[in-house]
Amino acid sequence: MSRLYRELIVILDFGSQYNQLILRRVREMRVYCELLPCNTPLSRLKQLKPKGVILSGGPASVIENGAPQPPSGIFQMGIPLLGICYGMQVMVHLLGGKVAPARKREYGASQLLVDKEDELFYKLPRKLLVWMSHTDRVVKIPPGFEAIAHTRNCPYAVIRNKSGKFYGVQFHPEVAHTPQGKDIIQNFLFRICGCSGNWTMSSFINHSVNSIKKRVGKGKVICALSGGVDSSVTAMLINKAIGKNLTCIFVNNGLLREGEAEEVLSTFKDHFHLNIRYVNAEKRFLQRLKGIKEPEKKRKVIGEEFIHIFTEEAKKLGKIDFLAQGTLYPDVIESRSAKGGPSATIKSHHNVGGLPSSMKLKLIEPLKDLFKDEVRMVGRELGLPERIVNRQPFPGPGLAIRILGEVTSRRLKILRQADRIVQEEMEKYEGITRIWQSFAVLLPVRSVGVMGDVRTYEYTIALRAVISQDGMTADWARLPYELLDNISRRIVNEVKGVNRVVYDISSKPPSTIEWE
Ligand code: XMP
Repeated sequence: MSRLYRELIVILDFGSQYNQLILRRVREMRVYCELLPCNTPLSRLKQLKPKGVILSGGPASVIENGAPQPPSGIFQMGIPLLGICYGMQVMVHLLGGKVAPARKREYGASQLLVDKEDELFYKLPRKLLVWMSHTDRVVKIPPGFEAIAHTRNCPYAVIRNKSGKFYGVQFHPEVAHTPQGKDIIQNFLFRICGCSGNWTMSSFINHSVNSIKKRVGKGKVICALSGGVDSSVTAMLINKAIGKNLTCIFVNNGLLREGEAEEVLSTFKDHFHLNIRYVNAEKRFLQRLKGIKEPEKKRKVIGEEFIHIFTEEAKKLGKIDFLAQGTLYPDVIESRSAKGGPSATIKSHHNVGGLPSSMKLKLIEPLKDLFKDEVRMVGRELGLPERIVNRQPFPGPGLAIRILGEVTSRRLKILRQADRIVQEEMEKYEGITRIWQSFAVLLPVRSVGVMGDVRTYEYTIALRAVISQDGMTADWARLPYELLDNISRRIVNEVKGVNRVVYDISSKPPSTIEWE
């Protein structure tokens, strides 16, 4: 794929926990950016033609044997480089300066004093607050370099080699604790690398549509559409490129939220006229789930059944060439093998991962360069309604893993009603955009209550609402008491079979977001 349609900044990854933050900062400035392993071959870097390279921080010490290094020859590429923390030290080390262990680790806020004018400090004051986190320090700078800013403990807090456009910063400009760090990165991108900030979601769409057209030609593509944001945007993008040669298979497993199947169909089939095969497999799934209480067994059965159905449907379509998937950039960074590697990128929870290899499908993953919020922007640009663009993540096994114990149609009905109330009330809550997920869970616990003059003995609903960045860790949401009160009152009054509501106040870890 040609990358020249957008300016590229490469971050070479030396393992810092802040690397994704650097990436985010750069992309927020409309400059396309990729995180690549620090040992990416020079030939690959040259092929990508980046406007500049950022050498990231990392936990290693350049003085130790085997410390990670950028590809040799990077300093002769003639492009600007910015070394951050370890990235600066490795630059110093390789270009003839000296790095030594500090007596003690410098960690926390420091005041940076700018000593020399430079484009890097364009429109910035002479005193800046910066965030330090390092053990080794630069004690001698390489020939051709000069210090342009210092802190009390660090004479070489910012160094430059003007002719080479090489910069090193000992602090971390990417973290929020460096309040003007964004400006420093911006200056590097626009004033030193000469970027223009032309990477927008509409340029992404144009490019993506063209490259899908080119790759697929007259071939046929299938896509499992779930109505979640990733598969929806994937389907819309491919539809824009190849129209009816894309078939979306939408399997209603009977474990969806209330009204969800109808909404997906009306949006994609009636409104956007996508080529959709709708399979109502409610009965098949319920039949297979009969008597199963164990969470992992439920997941396995649901995954298997999905693959059966998907394969059956795909076979009815005749020859298919491609399978479209909504893989996102964080999965790519994690798996690392995604770019050009084997099909290791199929996410296990993407449900289509277990398709028989005899189908010999090639993968097409148009969102693999994007983060979730970028996918949402693409969705908006493609005209998807906010309800779909902002949809909370919903697990493949659906409500089955929110019904503890056996999944029956009666229990599904109870949970669906309770869950609809949670959704309705949460939609009125002004803080909803901060909530990662909010839902109801049906517990297999019955307890005594009283309604009017009558004693009841009914089920309990647990309410779960969490704040999270990516679902990997999560904190329970501090919802207002009135909201909790409304939800609880409505559920107990309106849902037959429930007489108690509890709020889950556990975080992940050690709990998980879903209950099963
Ligand atoms: P846990 O429960 O592991 O969930 O804290 C983390 C995030 O992943 C979602 N989740 C799933 N998504 N298939 C999916 O597509 C699954 O089997 C699955 N299990 C959990 C969960 O909703 C949360 O956002």
